[in-house]
Amino acid sequence: MSQTLAINGGQPAVPESIAFHKWPPPLDESGEQLILEAVRQNNHSGGGPHVRQLEEEFGAWNGNRHVIATCYGGAALHMGIAGCDVGAGDEVITTALSWTTSATCIIHHMAVPVFVDVDWESMLLDPARIEAAITERTRAILVVHYWGVACDMDAITAIARKHGLRVIEDACQAHGSLFKDRKAGTMGDCGAFSFNQNKNLCGGEGGIFVTDDDEILAKAKAVMSFSDMRPADAGRDYHQYGLGFKYGHGNLPAAFALAGLRRLNMTNAWAIENWHQLDSLLADTPHLVRSFSTPDQPTNGYAYVLRADPKYAANRGVPLSDLTDGIAAALRAEGTPFSRAKWLLPAHGVFQAKNAFGKGAPWAHYARPDIDYSLGQWPVAQDCIDTCLWGINLHRPPNRSEQIEALATAIRKVFENLDQVPVANPEPRPQENRA
Ligand SMILES: Cc1ncc(COP(=O)(O)O)c(C=O)c1O
Repeated sequence: MSQTLAINGGQPAVPESIAFHKWPPPLDESGEQLILEAVRQNNHSGGGPHVRQLEEEFGAWNGNRHVIATCYGGAALHMGIAGCDVGAGDEVITTALSWTTSATCIIHHMAVPVFVDVDWESMLLDPARIEAAITERTRAILVVHYWGVACDMDAITAIARKHGLRVIEDACQAHGSLFKDRKAGTMGDCGAFSFNQNKNLCGGEGGIFVTDDDEILAKAKAVMSFSDMRPADAGRDYHQYGLGFKYGHGNLPAAFALAGLRRLNMTNAWAIENWHQLDSLLADTPHLVRSFSTPDQPTNGYAYVLRADPKYAANRGVPLSDLTDGIAAALRAEGTPFSRAKWLLPAHGVFQAKNAFGKGAPWAHYARPDIDYSLGQWPVAQDCIDTCLWGINLHRPPNRSEQIEALATAIRKVFENLDQVPVANPEPRPQENRA
């Protein structure tokens, strides 16, 4: 329907009577009680009772034998790298498109990432491109279940088995995500979840490392605290055995995460229901690439990601990225704030400079000399970041039907009137950074 966009002086699509609630929903009484209990006891360390309880209940909820709560998801990812025996100069294959920690966890252990392009539909690591990236130095594939959708783990684990590689699951956005009814964090050799503010399980900050493998567990634990790999019944002698970091979780935030875990099935179901309501209201919206979810790879409701069809930008003669800036501004004016998600991993300065620890380390000392991060090698991921818009506070609980309807109305209005969206740079830029 033709309407004047709010950015051009029209009436905003979201009426003033509709307020979007922020994630997460307030705790209920039992959640608050749990926090009080955690404050009132006197072991607040990483060995506290709520840390142990969180580990036990998360293991039971997700189906993992070994579970270690950590202070952030990136710590759990680093533990996965160490647990899989990845060392200096080894290569880990990962996606070109994710949050930065999916790749920085690799250099934390002096190993080097090798980036692989994604599939346009799912925005996930494209299994068809993995084998070409394997070298004699490759030790592991770090898959990212991005935007709350699990990767094609049949294809990826088959490649890993064929080449004797470990599989680490970055499930930081994927609490409850499924691949063919199997849960994220149970399909690879080990996995990591995040409990940061934005995640389906919000503990403020925090994370969790999971594995079923005793050997991986022992090696992962070696990067925690004093790097102590002796048996648990040996007690602590406060000797520094190797390079360990303080990765344990505090008891109080663990109690907060535990309260979230106990209602996670409910909040996930609610987010998923809202996600699908929004998706069906957006059916047939012109020029909109709707968010991805299929019966084999269903969303856990983490994010509803908007993309504009790159063909529209090409036909209009505007750069896709500038069009996306215009769409974001138009959506904001309608009352629905979406943000750009510009995370092309190899584009980060640390990879472009190949310098993480100073003096070019680890690349200068360990990596094969021909490892190359020049941009243009990941054209699909580049297209994705040129057009990805996301928000988590709009479709998540405690928002309900009325917010979802307003959200859909605003998105439809902008995409149905895309020709009205002002674009700052009308002339296409040269296709720099492209293959
Ligand atoms: C895909 C992915 N991996 C890793 C992380 C790191 O998690 P944390 O912020 O808890 O360290 C995040 C967090 O945003 C993420 O989205």
